[in-house]
Amino acid sequence: MFKRNLIQTLSLFLFFTGNYQLLMAQQTTITLRADKPSGQISKHIYGHFAEHLGRCIYDGFYVGENSSIPNTAGVRNDIIAALKNLNIPNLRWPGGCFADRYHWKDGIGPKDKRPSVVNTMWGGVTEDNSFGTHDFLNMCKLLGTEPYLAGNTGSGTVQELSDWVQYVNFEGKSPMSDLRVKNGQEKPWDVKFWGVGNEAWGCGGNMTPEYYVGEYRKYATFMEGHNLFKIASGANVDDYHWTETLMKGIPLNMMNGIALHHYSFPAWDKKGPATGFTEQQYFETMKTALRMDELITKHTAIMDKYDPGKKVGLVVDEWGGWFDVETGTNPGFLYQQNTMRDAMIAGTTLNIFNNHSDRVKIANLAQCVNVLQAVILTNKEKMLLSPTYHVMEMYKVHQNATLIPVEVKTDDYIFGNDKLPSVSVSASKDAMGLTHVSVVNINKSKDEMIEIDITGQQYNSVSGRILTSPGIDDHNTFENPAYVKPVVFNGAVLKGGKLKIKLPPFSIAVLELK
Ligand code: AHR
Repeated sequence: MFKRNLIQTLSLFLFFTGNYQLLMAQQTTITLRADKPSGQISKHIYGHFAEHLGRCIYDGFYVGENSSIPNTAGVRNDIIAALKNLNIPNLRWPGGCFADRYHWKDGIGPKDKRPSVVNTMWGGVTEDNSFGTHDFLNMCKLLGTEPYLAGNTGSGTVQELSDWVQYVNFEGKSPMSDLRVKNGQEKPWDVKFWGVGNEAWGCGGNMTPEYYVGEYRKYATFMEGHNLFKIASGANVDDYHWTETLMKGIPLNMMNGIALHHYSFPAWDKKGPATGFTEQQYFETMKTALRMDELITKHTAIMDKYDPGKKVGLVVDEWGGWFDVETGTNPGFLYQQNTMRDAMIAGTTLNIFNNHSDRVKIANLAQCVNVLQAVILTNKEKMLLSPTYHVMEMYKVHQNATLIPVEVKTDDYIFGNDKLPSVSVSASKDAMGLTHVSVVNINKSKDEMIEIDITGQQYNSVSGRILTSPGIDDHNTFENPAYVKPVVFNGAVLKGGKLKIKLPPFSIAVLELK
């Protein structure tokens, strides 16, 4: 009774003092353990993915040398500039499912001599191979990013993959390096990241994990050269048996990474629209996105059993939101708009990766341009940066920084009979001594009053930016490309060693503490 009176009195007080918006707010407390800095957040967690799928490569990155759209060797200059601004650390290519259907020798040599084949995986369209190995690796140079080549262990051969490694990496004289030189590339590209197949449990060959272990060992043996980081095709979501079988069956000195794929949607068979979705669809999407934490924790526990020294990295080389294609577009092209919901997926997922950076060493958002949760959409000469782009740009401060562990007590975002944690956070300290905190409120309708206790470090100033918008499905269009974009955030105050933040519904702030 007394408690109820107190709450009523407090509510009236807040109402009459004009602070009635606090009634709608929730409360989260966070401790920043600046006294316990952890390991380095690998910049490769911020990687991207470009598949020969829909309009990602053709009519996306690559418009051809003769296009009227400004380009360098056929790659759009505006895309190059936008991605350089993200400091993209690595780019995975040519798939995806396409990788296990791709024969790299089709994509080298004079373009008019390259064979046209059918992209049986995505839309049954003609693939003229005009964008091949040289085009991709030279584009990576322009972007200042490390290539991650996904090898074909499905429809290819051991010899074919072994030849690809030699073609791109061998400095001395050999049939493959001679061919590379003949095709105009004197120096090898020195590609470090190699995928040994993709989704071997599905589109990569429908293998059992036991069978794939044997295939992996064989292919990896003949992928010869120094400094290769070999990534085994990993589990689909919560297939823990897959991870366990690989960890048990592949010697640690033969594998540097093991993949994991997990997408977010309301339901796999009812993905719903990318815009104009309901709150239920938003809530269910966030539920699958936040599941990434549990998946990483459980796959890590298995890996820890066989690899306590954490030599093998967990490589989440496909993640992101997957919704219905836009009306009127080819269903095999996976073209979807990108809203504040996608920004919520990106912000929370990247926080999860940062907080698990002792094991997660590489991750790739699917996909970079015009496919699934794209950071860039194009329409002829027009280009737009999606809300997800802005999250990636705001979070780039965490790349290679030292993780600062966080302890979080957050309220719930309640929908129906279900609930999710409202607030997600991660923090790091960069090489210049600046601390960055990225904080996300996924709650659809309530502000979050966040109080951050900082142990082991004194700060004098806070500044930051916020990505927020009035509607959860707000997005950028070719007519209004800058509708959603980050702005200066004035909702954080540093007082008495504590940081207080008022974060609006479905918004993301990245703060800098000095
Ligand atoms: O990213 C789209 C597809 O999703 C990829 O090609 C495949 O690996 C996954 O199933």
